[in-house]
Amino acid sequence: SVYDSKELGSVAVAQRIAQLIRKKATQEKPFVLGLATGATPLGVYAELVRLHKEEGLSFENVVTFNLDEYLPMAPADKNSYVRFMHENLFDHIDIKSENVHIPDGTIGEEEVVDFCREYEAKIASLGGLDLQILGIGRSGHIGFNEPGSGLYSLTRRVKLDAITIKDAAKDFGGVANVPHEAITMGISTILNAKRVVLMAWGESKAPIVKKAIEDEITDLIPATYLQYHSNVRFVLDNDAATEL
Ligand code: GLP
Repeated sequence: SVYDSKELGSVAVAQRIAQLIRKKATQEKPFVLGLATGATPLGVYAELVRLHKEEGLSFENVVTFNLDEYLPMAPADKNSYVRFMHENLFDHIDIKSENVHIPDGTIGEEEVVDFCREYEAKIASLGGLDLQILGIGRSGHIGFNEPGSGLYSLTRRVKLDAITIKDAAKDFGGVANVPHEAITMGISTILNAKRVVLMAWGESKAPIVKKAIEDEITDLIPATYLQYHSNVRFVLDNDAATEL
């Protein structure tokens, strides 16, 4: 779907999430929500906070899993995804802290494999992700699944692409300060979600959005793997849709 502005697109995505949360609240099971970071989902989080404060939307029955985190990364660092999520969403809603999951950027070499396996196991134990929201990197990554990521990849430690490091440099005060690695959910983890919503705003995303939707499925553009999913929605503003 294409919206006239990122604000309108963001509100639509947030309303959809709210609708799914409210529906699930009538059942016994929690709503399992996969979350993303970066500038793209900020409007969705702002609208979810508004819906909580003004319309009584409760997150008591919501369990979240974030896509990724830099490695190494301390939670208190200004660039950590832990901090990002708390500042932009968790600190303003009624989610239980034990229901929040973000890959641990402080994990040591020896524990990282077990950590990733447990992350997958927790998602699976809840019956999988009900909805995963995504942004897209200019390298074509989703989460931190960079070019070369396999279709069957799961949560794991990865190396960041040069374009990704360059795009992150402004936040870190230079390329040299950007971590070279990350922990990310895999392509398979994402494709196992019942619903996927990928958002992209602005003309800088137009070329990669076109490739993600129209190119043949290839590991060189990990977002093309979404074409395999039977319930995926691309939510774009006019600028991101110009090359379609
Ligand atoms: C980071 C995140 C991705 C995100 C991408 C795009 O690399 N790990 O999940 O989609 O940035 O960022 P932005 O939304 O700021 O354009």
